[in-house]
Amino acid sequence: MAGATGLLPEAAGEELDAYLARWRQAAAGRDAVAETIAALARATAEIAALVRLGPLAGALGAAAGAANADGDIQKKLDVLANDAVLKALRACEAVAYFASEEEEEIQSLRAGGACAVAVDPLDGSSNIDANTSIGTIFSVYPASPDGATGSFFRPGSEQVAAGYAIYGPFSALVLTLGAGVDMFVLDPSGLYRRADAHMSIPRSTREYAINASNYRYWLEPVRDFIDDCIAGAEGPRAKDFNMRWLASLVGDTHRILSRGGVFLYPADKRPGYERGRLRLMYEAAPIAFLVEQAGGDATDGLTRILDKVPGALHERTPLVFGSSDKVARIVEHHADSSHARIRSPLFGKRGLFRA
Ligand code: F6P
Ligand code: MN
Repeated sequence: MAGATGLLPEAAGEELDAYLARWRQAAAGRDAVAETIAALARATAEIAALVRLGPLAGALGAAAGAANADGDIQKKLDVLANDAVLKALRACEAVAYFASEEEEEIQSLRAGGACAVAVDPLDGSSNIDANTSIGTIFSVYPASPDGATGSFFRPGSEQVAAGYAIYGPFSALVLTLGAGVDMFVLDPSGLYRRADAHMSIPRSTREYAINASNYRYWLEPVRDFIDDCIAGAEGPRAKDFNMRWLASLVGDTHRILSRGGVFLYPADKRPGYERGRLRLMYEAAPIAFLVEQAGGDATDGLTRILDKVPGALHERTPLVFGSSDKVARIVEHHADSSHARIRSPLFGKRGLFRA
């Protein structure tokens, strides 16, 4: 089956470099993005090799200083991953600016570079000692003549490419260049090869992902949605749901891209969580771009993630994404008038309005 990027079945197994070469030749103005993705792929293959060593790399513990710009505990591997990405992007003529979860400020790398890259170098790093999936998230914008500010403080819909590397039982690069989502699996020789899987999120799902230990801090729309899921076949939705939470955004995204589901990291009542936990520029925006390209939706509850403009490098946003019917339902829970409507006995409890 041909993927949305127009690749023929015989292209399955094709090396990423060959895929990028064909993509850049298909239209003018693609060289810089192709070079940037190739550089990011090299960095992630290096990080994958480090992650695979586990404790043998001696990098699983906390880093000196032990907190990043946003207050998260920083592991040695976070720092090594950031260094690997920065080194690869410095060596790439195409990259003008670099924004990272692990940096206090945006870095200028090369005058005249055509791309700006925002990165979460090691997402889910609280899981590294548990040997569960972690990853690297990236977002690519055209560099703006207005400099770093114009390059990154813009709607996510202006991304030209986004993706993540997942380091798990298999390691893979999942990429959108704006026309569908393709997955490249890292082979033992260190090359990414296109897997025969065009990623598409099923419209409907019975699986949800949320950190349920925060239940008491949630606001009503989220509580109501999850209460209905938990009530299952006996509740207003009249069907049973299943819950999964990896505490790794990349891992949860990969599952949803593979088989559907909905993910929520909402705002809640804890101090510091008024805008949730996840960062708009280098977590939510690239994940939203991938999700939409795979046929799903991503919102903060009221606003489409790709329409949001960050006001600061580490700005947070509530994040809900996945199968479009569930995302739409959560949006309805957030919209006051329809929230009242779907919780009403008529539409909610009698199950006349189900998705
Ligand atoms: O990057 C932040 C992150 O580690 C995500 O990968 C993950 O989705 C989330 O935080 C987990 O948060 P919590 O520890 O609150 O469940
Ligand atoms: Mn992260």
